[in-house]
Amino acid sequence: MTLDVRDETLVELMDDPACDPARLSATLRRFGVVNRLVSGWGGLYAVTLRPYLAGLGRPARVLDLGCGGGDVVVRLARRAAGDGLDVEWTGIDPDPRAHAAATARGAPPGVRFRCADTTMLLAEGDSYDVVISNHVLHHLGTELTSFTDASLALSRGLVLHSDIARSRAAYALYAAAIQPLAPGTFLRTDGLRSIRRSYTVGELQAALDDARPGMWRVGGGRPFRVVALATAHG
Ligand SMILES: C[S@@+](CC[C@H](N)C(=O)[O-])C[C@H]1O[C@@H](n2cnc3c(N)ncnc32)[C@H](O)[C@@H]1O
Repeated sequence: MTLDVRDETLVELMDDPACDPARLSATLRRFGVVNRLVSGWGGLYAVTLRPYLAGLGRPARVLDLGCGGGDVVVRLARRAAGDGLDVEWTGIDPDPRAHAAATARGAPPGVRFRCADTTMLLAEGDSYDVVISNHVLHHLGTELTSFTDASLALSRGLVLHSDIARSRAAYALYAAAIQPLAPGTFLRTDGLRSIRRSYTVGELQAALDDARPGMWRVGGGRPFRVVALATAHG
């Protein structure tokens, strides 16, 4: 096994439509803990999202693409409400199993979940002040450009995609740290496959520049993370 190049051939167990529903549901629920530990949205909220939303000076709309079990959008909504920001949050996921997990979590005031993809939202003429995603980019193969283009088209402000950055250290640390959380879930296998499918900062910048030169700024932000940021003009 090498981590020198992305391994796009790997398929995550949770993407198998016939996978064990109980394990899938446990995986989606436990993403909440994993995301809290690794995803860095607390920092992204404090440094980027909160100032941007506060600066609008009016009610705002935020869209989370591929929201899975919905924990990221719910956590951001609670932070924003605590800061007195008036924001309507939407989490979409095209996988009905993920949508069911998000709905089962329960949507606090100001949050709604939809089983939908970007094509549906674009057809509805939907538009948001901020479009985000967490741990979706590594899932994508050739659809990377259509996904990121759709995120730009759905935004009239910021777009922020956050994901794991591939590295040997991330792989080794995740393999050790996930042990207590892994039983009854796909977290170990899928997390390690996700790391092997993930981009480095340089790879993601090059891939996004290929399609839209100069549109995206890709950085690390914190260890083992890659964050792509763009300002949309939709
Ligand atoms: C690893 S999960 C991440 C879920 C959630 N964002 C989180 O951080 O816990 C990836 C999610 O992306 C969704 N997904 C895959 N391809 C997508 C696409 N083209 N558009 C929107 N969501 C997609 C999948 O259904 C899945 O729920």
